[in-house]
Amino acid sequence: MSSSPYIHGTSEREQRRLVEQADLLRNLLAGNLALHPGEHLLEIGCGVGAVLGQIARAHPEARLSGIDISANQIAAAHLHLEGLGLGGPELRMGDGAQLPWPAGHFDPIRMVWVVEHLADPLAVLREARRVLRPGGSIHLTETDYASLRVSPPDRAIGLLGGLRGPLQPPRRCPRRPAPGAAAGAGRLHDGGQPDRGAPPLVSRPAG
Ligand SMILES: C[S@@+](CC[C@H](N)C(=O)[O-])C[C@H]1O[C@@H](n2cnc3c(N)ncnc32)[C@H](O)[C@@H]1O
Repeated sequence: MSSSPYIHGTSEREQRRLVEQADLLRNLLAGNLALHPGEHLLEIGCGVGAVLGQIARAHPEARLSGIDISANQIAAAHLHLEGLGLGGPELRMGDGAQLPWPAGHFDPIRMVWVVEHLADPLAVLREARRVLRPGGSIHLTETDYASLRVSPPDRAIGLLGGLRGPLQPPRRCPRRPAPGAAAGAGRLHDGGQPDRGAPPLVSRPAG
């Protein structure tokens, strides 16, 4: 199997968190997604269907499938999507490393906050490539925790840094300036967001 024990679990509270998270980030997850007629999207690690629900709302005509290794998540996904009146997406329980579809079946494929939970991410990525149509695309969404900065500093988030030592300032990726951009008018960091020079959060482990 390609997954480690899933640290977030499947409590009702956690399942609600996934729905709220996808709602908050719907533009990132669904609003800017280009789906062309006839394309069939697969989400591996679809959880409770929170992302699929956003995509189905933004693209009512789209063909959507989701798979998750947890029976609890898939049961909750049925309830969530049916509760929204979105009965369309196909939902299956299974391991992303052994996808139950033939080669070349999907385009595109999405994995949202899943890779970080996999003991063997390559096994899942290989399977994703197998079921992807030639020339198709795989989208991965993950959080780069090394780039976390909070301004003004927040004590509760600061304590998170105490779990693994001080939070580091974000790494900077060299980027070409946009044509015509004024020098020094806001650098870009990993997240692609303009960096207005907010101080990085630095926390020390308690005690
Ligand atoms: C943080 S949740 C994200 C769910 C969904 N993508 C979202 O953003 O709402 C990660 C999900 O990956 C699933 N998962 C973990 N390992 C998996 C695997 N090997 N195959 C399929 N799903 C897996 C978990 O059961 C969990 O539902």
